[in-house]
Amino acid sequence: MALESIRYNAGKLEILDQLLLPRESKYVMLCGVEDGWRAINKMQVRGAPAIAIVGCLSLAVELLGETFDDKKVLRQEVEGKLNYLVSARPTAVNMKLAAEELIALINSLGADDSIGPEEMKARFVDAIEAMLARDISDNRRIGELGAQAVVSAQVCGSSDKLRVLTHCNTGSLATAGYGTALGIIRALHAIGKLDHVYCTETRPYNQGARLTAYELVHEQIPATLVCDSMVAALMKVRSISAVVVGADRVAANGDTANKIGTYQIAVVAKYHGVPFFVAAPLTSIDFSIPSGERIVIEERPEKEMTHMGDVRIAAQGIACWNPAFDVTPAELVTAIVTERGVVEPGQLRKLLVEDRQPNGMLVGDIPS
Ligand code: MRU
Repeated sequence: MALESIRYNAGKLEILDQLLLPRESKYVMLCGVEDGWRAINKMQVRGAPAIAIVGCLSLAVELLGETFDDKKVLRQEVEGKLNYLVSARPTAVNMKLAAEELIALINSLGADDSIGPEEMKARFVDAIEAMLARDISDNRRIGELGAQAVVSAQVCGSSDKLRVLTHCNTGSLATAGYGTALGIIRALHAIGKLDHVYCTETRPYNQGARLTAYELVHEQIPATLVCDSMVAALMKVRSISAVVVGADRVAANGDTANKIGTYQIAVVAKYHGVPFFVAAPLTSIDFSIPSGERIVIEERPEKEMTHMGDVRIAAQGIACWNPAFDVTPAELVTAIVTERGVVEPGQLRKLLVEDRQPNGMLVGDIPS
């Protein structure tokens, strides 16, 4: 059975508490926006797409528990709460883009004189609920297109099975299901093209060791865990075919913010001639910023570095710097895989026009 990080049914929202994994599988109920904000901020739920979906569903749950007789009140409440949810974590853009889209929707429903406040609420909640299914179908498409792109980027010939490296967690736990970069790995496995996956432990929060390793074992995909510091040696000794990672925010020029450590993997991949793929749904692409310089990088508490659980491992008195993300320059990225096509980083804007070939690839943009 597939792992389910988000359970939602008729106004009832539960998330798998990712702070407890892999020791314990426990669902916690989120009763509204305050619970949603806290779960995102504490990282009980994490991963850019999952953050947006849980944030928006927590608003749906709250609205369903209230009755509105004034459309203006509903509109103001929605806008205030969405902006509050955006503040829970600053780097991933998905929650911000979802908030902008939903604020535009509530404004247009508010301007529609043919509907009353309760119908306005019902239509708004329907739009939020649709995010779950849309995220899964987008991820499946990313998996399919990404697997083709990774296979066709191989110099050694597509009959060979591939050894893929991934970083952080981009699977069912980070999305509504299936995953982005991990979705590509799943798709490669499903078509018989995957030899082995290497996942980094992803210090200091250990999303790789705790979550990706858990998903790979659960899915029975052949996989090995490595420490972040082993990547260069791994590429030298084990001949990695491709790196596939996710994204928290991709700027218009293809600069990509993702989990801390992604940048150094991209540098090492370039040195070893290993193609480096970013899997990102359109909901992770921020066309409003020209480059990665404008991306705000979240800094997290020192304790995530100084402690393993409750045991202090760092010397008392040492200062710490704990950025949760870094920005990989576009020049180190071979291609960005989205549900709408696979493009080189400089070609992202092509995704905004519907010029797809029947196979979903964008004309002229298939990396070879
Ligand atoms: O701090 P996290 O665990 O939320 O960071 C997650 C990542 O960096 C993922 O790679 C990214 O959000 C993509 S998840 C599909």
